[in-house]
Amino acid sequence: MLLTDVDTFTSMSQSYTTTNILGIASGKGGVGKTTVAVNLALALCAQNLRVGLLDADLGLANSQILLGVNAPLNVSHVFDGTKTVADVAVETHHGLLLIPGASGNQSLANISSMEARSLIDQILESFPDLDVLLIDSAAGLSSANMSFLDACSIRLLVMQDEPASIADAYGLIKLESRKDRLKDLYLVPNRVSSEQAGKRLFDKMNLVCMKFLEEPVSYLASVLQDDLYSRATRKRETILEHHPSSLATKNITDLAAVLMTKLSQANISGPVREQV
Ligand SMILES: Nc1ncnc2c1ncn2[C@@H]1O[C@H](COP(=O)(O)OP(=O)(O)OP(=O)(O)O)[C@@H](O)[C@H]1O
Ligand SMILES: [Mg+2]
Repeated sequence: MLLTDVDTFTSMSQSYTTTNILGIASGKGGVGKTTVAVNLALALCAQNLRVGLLDADLGLANSQILLGVNAPLNVSHVFDGTKTVADVAVETHHGLLLIPGASGNQSLANISSMEARSLIDQILESFPDLDVLLIDSAAGLSSANMSFLDACSIRLLVMQDEPASIADAYGLIKLESRKDRLKDLYLVPNRVSSEQAGKRLFDKMNLVCMKFLEEPVSYLASVLQDDLYSRATRKRETILEHHPSSLATKNITDLAAVLMTKLSQANISGPVREQV
């Protein structure tokens, strides 16, 4: 059952130990958030981390499709009070804990900030052993999306080198800047031809941020264009499991390694999940 009482919610928030909560955002849709979230989650699992993936695309969820798993229940059952988070969560054979999102449910795509934070709290309470909780968000800057991002300790902004993606990524950066948390925002250029091309896209974006917001953004790493992602999804395969020697697997594994280094350097802990 979801919490509705602010006091209960606040006291629960303060009783957790540390989990890194990472949001995957984009602004524009279709730029590769779910692809990055799912594959990054699997790469972190492969590093023996206990990883949870919340499919926070509550209107058009599809993480389970990319993972090739069937999820009979999803968060809509948590929101209607018939199931708990533990009931709907799926342990995949990769060792990943998936909390499936709902599909075709418009009301869930508009949940309040309180409901989003309550859902995350329940996940943390039900699975206290998680090292990392990745949150794959929906496209756009809805209040539900922003609520999920508010609950994260760092945010990865997936973008492509095309005008609409750049414009929408900048829109999200501006919002993050107003919340004074650009230092926790990392750009992930996706579908680029090389790491250098991704870095050039980042540099371009960083220049705009320096000029108009007077502060920099950070670069994580780039994800290269690779048709293997869609081919694997069509076959309900994952690249890490079924194509371990592919360039895409190396690329995502490297991305996970860079992220782990950043996390350990920054010793980041989430605003929702605080020390006991
Ligand atoms: N690096 C890549 N190389 C090739 N194809 C990619 C890459 N990243 C994503 N894609 C493809 O782009 C399409 C959209 O990707 P994805 O669903 O991950 O985007 P999304 O940002 O999650 O979309 P939405 O905003 O609808 O949630 C998919 O067909 C996916 O296979
Ligand atoms: Mg998606």
